[in-house]
Amino acid sequence: MRRLSSLKSRLRRLLLRVTPERRPDPNALPPQILRKLVGGDHWDDVGSNQFEYLKKEGLQPGHSLLDLPCGSFRAGRHFIDYLETGHYFGVDMGVVGIERGIQYVLEPLGLMEKRPTIHVGRLTAEPNDLSLFTGFTRFDYIWMHALFDHIPNEIIHRALQDMSSILVPGGKLYATIFLNPHGPAFREPMIRPRNDSLENAVVTFPDHDPWHHTIDFFQETASGIPALRLDACLYDYPHPLGLRMLRFVRESPGAP
Ligand SMILES: C[S@@+](CC[C@H](N)C(=O)[O-])C[C@H]1O[C@@H](n2cnc3c(N)ncnc32)[C@H](O)[C@@H]1O
Repeated sequence: MRRLSSLKSRLRRLLLRVTPERRPDPNALPPQILRKLVGGDHWDDVGSNQFEYLKKEGLQPGHSLLDLPCGSFRAGRHFIDYLETGHYFGVDMGVVGIERGIQYVLEPLGLMEKRPTIHVGRLTAEPNDLSLFTGFTRFDYIWMHALFDHIPNEIIHRALQDMSSILVPGGKLYATIFLNPHGPAFREPMIRPRNDSLENAVVTFPDHDPWHHTIDFFQETASGIPALRLDACLYDYPHPLGLRMLRFVRESPGAP
């Protein structure tokens, strides 16, 4: 206990010395400390992989991005740094994660100066009034990383419906899933090795958290949402547990 509080006060002293003029590279923050304070494994690799992936998918500094759930800004710190001031929006239901993320990640990096819009909010199966968080902003990109494996299907359905309404025409929504490639009739748990090893592997289920899904489920869900199309399941997203990436597109008016 004493060691943790002395670690915390050493960290605080260290962070206080960081001025906006001398902003460190986000990757230079000691990952073992962030992991303890902010939570989550794979702080560095999964954070920067998300950012690099979305950049490869076309994210430009002038775009507006909704990062939902933003967690403790594992990827958000990279997005905020890259995007123009005011173009990043982060929402998550976890108050503590957001608070710690602001205190230990964004503020020390001087990233609050980029005026990210950050809100505590919980997606439910009822219509979600996202204008509470985002005002009149319409997003070029919506990034939903490591969420669909934690929420039931009816919330996923509602989330896709609501997100579709706040994408610009042609805007893209990315969401990770644990894929069940065997089809809906397959109802067994599935083992997800971590970095190809069974040590610390995760087991996913068709009917509870952590969930896995078929592509059919998302195709069917998107087909009931006007203007939203499931564009692709991308197999090249690098993730230690093998999460796959879905790309949805909001159709432009008049598109075939
Ligand atoms: C595994 S974390 C991923 C966070 C972030 N995307 C990342 O990759 O670092 C899952 C997050 O989902 C959030 N979450 C779970 N259910 C939610 C809901 N119904 N509405 C909003 N956030 C939710 C949790 O609070 C948690 O921060």
